[in-house]
Amino acid sequence: LFLKEDMMDEQARCIETLIELHRGTPRQGPGDIGFSEHILTLLPDLPDQPRIADLGCGTGVAALHLAERFQVKVRAVDFARGFLEELEKRARQRGLGHLVDIVEADMGTLDWPRPCLDLIWSEGAAYILTFEGALKAWHPLLVPGGVAVISELSYFKENVAQPVRDFFDEGYPTAGTEAENSAIAQSCGFEIIGTHRLPTQAWWDNYYGPLKKRMKIFEDSDDPVMQAVLQESTTEMELLRDHGSDYGYSFYILKAV
Ligand SMILES: C[S@@+](CC[C@H](N)C(=O)[O-])C[C@H]1O[C@@H](n2cnc3c(N)ncnc32)[C@H](O)[C@@H]1O
Repeated sequence: LFLKEDMMDEQARCIETLIELHRGTPRQGPGDIGFSEHILTLLPDLPDQPRIADLGCGTGVAALHLAERFQVKVRAVDFARGFLEELEKRARQRGLGHLVDIVEADMGTLDWPRPCLDLIWSEGAAYILTFEGALKAWHPLLVPGGVAVISELSYFKENVAQPVRDFFDEGYPTAGTEAENSAIAQSCGFEIIGTHRLPTQAWWDNYYGPLKKRMKIFEDSDDPVMQAVLQESTTEMELLRDHGSDYGYSFYILKAV
């Protein structure tokens, strides 16, 4: 969710409310396991036992997939305890508890040894630090040749419709085209291996669909923060419905040079 400036004043309350709203949803941002699996087939070679982190993991849809697929311990980082508790439960249920290292921390200021990772995975979370801020913070964590897979809201054309421009100018003013984001990645020390657009349908099937069901539960809430979050979510969904060909999430496959 792209919070407006005036909602940032109440950031802590908004985050609590977002956690409550997303409780039980399969994921907290747009994505698709089948698509992630496709991305994984496109990665440059990784060591046999890659050191992996999922940054801004939420309830860990990617962390769990990566742990299962690579059979290595994945560091799953988020600062929202509520999401991490859910991740812990899901990991146990899937018999993956021993392969997920849950880290409650600010993903922008990780004090890990540098370098310490072969693969950074981050879906729908880099924007919180800005794409550039995230890449600057995370590049030193990767070994030379290490890989980052980062999904980032991206404009699919130079001249997006005015409602799209207005919405993101307010909620995410540094949003850019894939070419602009690729240039940022290069300036942060990455080689671009590929840029791949998440199909828009995945937003509806895996993110907005389950979220809509949760929104119904809270529609009569008398909490003004919840009402503001519901309104913002509805506006965001209408924007995608009307202008889904102008923007979306692109997965950037980046190699640290
Ligand atoms: C849109 S959700 C994406 C979650 C997950 N990657 C997914 O795709 O389902 C963004 C996540 O980033 C987390 N987050 C936001 N700012 C953070 C920070 N500074 N450090 C760690 N996690 C953060 C939020 O708690 C949330 O779980």
